[in-house]
Amino acid sequence: MKEDVMIEVKGMERTFNLGEVEVKALRGIDLVVKKGEFLVILGPSGSGKSTLLNCLGGIDSPTNGTINVEGEDIGNYKEKQLSGYRRNKVGWIFQFFNLIPSLTAVENVALALEMAHDKRDMMKRSQEALDLVGIPDKANMFPSQLSGGEQQRVAIARALVKKPDIVLADEPTGNLDWVTGQKIADLMRDLNQKEQTTFIVVSHDISITEVADRVLYLMDGNFSQKQHREPRSKKVMKEC
Ligand SMILES: Nc1ncnc2c1ncn2[C@@H]1O[C@H](COP(=O)(O)OP(=O)(O)OP(=O)(O)O)[C@@H](O)[C@H]1O
Ligand SMILES: [Mg+2]
Repeated sequence: MKEDVMIEVKGMERTFNLGEVEVKALRGIDLVVKKGEFLVILGPSGSGKSTLLNCLGGIDSPTNGTINVEGEDIGNYKEKQLSGYRRNKVGWIFQFFNLIPSLTAVENVALALEMAHDKRDMMKRSQEALDLVGIPDKANMFPSQLSGGEQQRVAIARALVKKPDIVLADEPTGNLDWVTGQKIADLMRDLNQKEQTTFIVVSHDISITEVADRVLYLMDGNFSQKQHREPRSKKVMKEC
């Protein structure tokens, strides 16, 4: 395993058995993600994007194949190690933000630290995470008092407050208008560069590819070689 590799997936399959019917959601995925990379995976509905992220995040397990994270096969983890991996190594961002409505913005962020049993300077660090995502003044607001873009910023702060090595984002701009979606994509890219956090973003939203280091296309449970498209940032760099 090379030192700059964060995740290496080999031959990953995930099959769901629904009685008589078998759904092959992932069909032999091979993937190497570098440390600090911003990878975007595009694919149509049902292509296996969420299943792939769930397996990478340790909340589902492949039927076949291996997932190595910094050289460790997470399939060999005992339950305690796996829950440590889920809590400390990985941060999640979702389409519908998944904030707790009865907690303020700063309390929503702090909850991630509480769950990770990492309560040192909890409120201070949570406020700093809100500063980082550009909403320092919204700490005491409830989710219902925030716009969609602001709620997603709280969710990003919640994902990053634990300083995870990997952020997994499932349609992070899917519930936002185009302009707000662009701002959230730019923010994630900015945080990826500032914190050197590895981002894996799955989406239908083609505009998010503009901030990617690399774009892959998932079709029917595997990567499609044909449709690879270079992100705009790379093209601009070439033109300079
Ligand atoms: N827990 C499950 N039980 C049974 N089938 C499942 C389960 N999770 C996913 N699937 C099936 O696996 C396939 C891939 O689903 P997945 O949710 O990964 O797709 P997706 O690319 O994330 O789609 P979308 O863009 O709509 O979110 C689908 O056919 C889906 O019905
Ligand atoms: Mg999905």
